[in-house]
This record gives sequence, C-alpha cells and structure tokens, in this order.
Amino acid sequence: MLPSFLLSWILLRCADSFSVRVPPGPVVVARGATAFLSCEFEPDLNISHLVINWQRQEDARVVHSFYYQVDQLDRQSKDYLGRTKLNHNELAKGNASLSIANFGLNDAGKYLCTVTNTKGIGKGELQLVYAAFCSEPRLSIHLKSSDVTVQYEMEGYPRPEILWLGSLGQNLTDHLEISPASDGGLYYLKSSYVTQNSAVNVTFTLKNPAAHQDLQRHVILSYDENMTSRTNSSTYVLSILCVILLCSTVLLLWLYCRRDK
Ligand SMILES: *[C@@H]1O[C@H](CO)[C@@H](O)[C@H](O)[C@H]1NC(C)=O
Ligand SMILES: *[C@@H]1O[C@H](CO)[C@@H](O)[C@H](O)[C@H]1NC(C)=O
Ligand SMILES: *[C@@H]1O[C@H](CO)[C@@H](O)[C@H](O)[C@H]1NC(C)=O
Ligand SMILES: *[C@@H]1O[C@H](CO)[C@@H](O)[C@H](O)[C@H]1NC(C)=O
Ligand SMILES: *[C@@H]1O[C@H](CO)[C@@H](O)[C@H](O)[C@H]1NC(C)=O
Repeated sequence: MLPSFLLSWILLRCADSFSVRVPPGPVVVARGATAFLSCEFEPDLNISHLVINWQRQEDARVVHSFYYQVDQLDRQSKDYLGRTKLNHNELAKGNASLSIANFGLNDAGKYLCTVTNTKGIGKGELQLVYAAFCSEPRLSIHLKSSDVTVQYEMEGYPRPEILWLGSLGQNLTDHLEISPASDGGLYYLKSSYVTQNSAVNVTFTLKNPAAHQDLQRHVILSYDENMTSRTNSSTYVLSILCVILLCSTVLLLWLYCRRDK
C-alpha cells in the first residue's frame, strides 16, 4: 500500500517538476535585431523523443518545429521563412531557445514554447515587444513676419513622449504630427514650437523608454525684429526701380518712333 502510494507520489512529483521556463516579463527587441527567445526544460540526454514547437499564441502560426531529431519546417508560417534558428547542440542540455533574425513590428506579440520528451510535456509563454530607436531629430527654423517656428522631425517607435521646455523649465505648448513612415514599423514625427518672441531659448526633450532613449536638444536663437520691415523697404525700393525702368523704356521707344517720322 505504502510503496504504491509512494510510487504514484514520486511519479506525480516528476510530472509536476517538468516545467518549461521562459522569461517572465516582456522582452524588448529592437527593429532589425535578432530576437532571442529563451526556453529551458528538464533535459533528457536521448533526444529521439524530443518534440519542440514554437508557435504564435494569438493565431497558432508555426514559428519553428523540431521532432525526429531534425527541424520540421513544412508547416512553418511563411512570415518566419529562413529567419529562425534552433541550436541543436543545446537540446540535450534542455535548452530550446530560438532566435529570430531581422525583427519587425509584425513579430511583436506572444510566443508559445511547447516541449515534449520522456520526462513530460510543458509549455511556456513569452512576450516580445517591438521598439525602434528614434533617429537624430532634424532641426528646421522658419522665420515669418509674424512668428518663428522651431521644428524637429524624426522617425521611431513606439510614439515617444515629446516636451518643449522654456528657459525656466516651463512646459510650452507645441504641435505634434504623427504618421506611419513609408518604411514599415516606424512612425514619422514632426513636432514644432511657435513663438512671437524675437529671442528663442527652448529645450526639445524626447523620451522613448522602450528603446532606453532620453534626449535633449537646446535651441537658442535671436534675430533682429526690424528684419521684416527691412525686407519691406527693400521690396519698396525694388518696385520704384522697376517703375523707373519701365518709364525710361517707354520714353526711349517714344523718342525712337519720333525720330523715324
Ligand atoms: C534513444 O531512444 C531510442 C528509442 O527509445 C532508442 O532506440 C535509442 O537507442 C536511444 N539512444 C540512446 C543513445 O540511448
Ligand atoms: C541556450 O542556447 C543558446 C544558443 O542557442 C545560448 O546562447 C544560451 O546561452 C543557452 N542557454 C543556457 C542557459 O545555456
Ligand atoms: C537659455 O536658458 C538657459 C536656462 O535658463 C540659460 O542658462 C542660458 O543662459 C540661456 N541662453 C541665452 C542665450 O539666453
Ligand atoms: C505639457 O502641456 C501639454 C499641453 O500643453 C500637456 O498635454 C502635457 O501633459 C504637459 N506635460 C507636462 C509634463 O506637464
Ligand atoms: C528696430 O527699429 C527701431 C526704430 O527704427 C529701433 O528703435 C529698435 O532698436 C530696432 N530694434 C532692433 C532690435 O534693432
């Protein structure tokens, strides 16, 4: 009685102890990088009974399969064609970690690592998050008669937190435009600050926590307030010159015609 109870307890413990271990929290992968999906299980030195299946949790797309001691890619989703790699030398050590090359926005999501061997069956779910480092913001300054526009343009993912700060650290109102960039998996962002002041002393700040990015760019600019009126006066001078030129041409033509008569 006791030995059989003990035996079933041990068997239960064994079945219980077969666990598939994956990283608990979301894993951030940068655009274009190789994602590393860690998955460990209780090893069995003889891998002839080992079945590994990597799938997307959301739609059961097959990412990578391994059984009969070889990669089985007949049912692999074409989205992962030629991009996945399972290190066969690690399998007997209980390591079913998979790598996915050239990570993109569509690769973000949940992945299931299912392992079956003589010790049991188990699965682990891990989440991959996509992020793209923001490009260096490109500055442009537009001077108009009525105001000055300071503008930064950049690409990145996800939507970063953008703030324009005044010289005293005050939050300035700004304008932000976001659109998907033609190059997939990136946002195109255009943020501007408009002022009527002739002296600009502002700080542009950008935070993209997913990509561990935190940058600040200072813009200091001052211009002559009378520049616009000078532009107006030069336009005025130019108009006068044109009128004089026109008048003299007409006069010359008139004189020329009179000489012919
Ligand atoms: C592994 O297991 C298979 C099937 O049980 C057996 O045929 C084979 O000899 C074993 N290999 C080793 C190295 O023990
Ligand atoms: C699992 O295998 C990968 C290579 O595929 C290796 O980089 C990683 O260090 C291994 N993990 C452990 C715990 O040995
Ligand atoms: C701009 O503001 C900063 C912070 O208040 C200050 O240290 C700096 O001197 C200012 N620069 C100009 C040119 O006013
Ligand atoms: C700054 O101001 C904008 C509106 O002008 C507001 O949406 C934003 O939350 C403010 N940010 C901070 C950090 O105060
Ligand atoms: C602009 O012109 C006015 C009068 O012509 C002058 O008093 C003022 O100092 C000028 N401003 C600058 C910034 O030069």
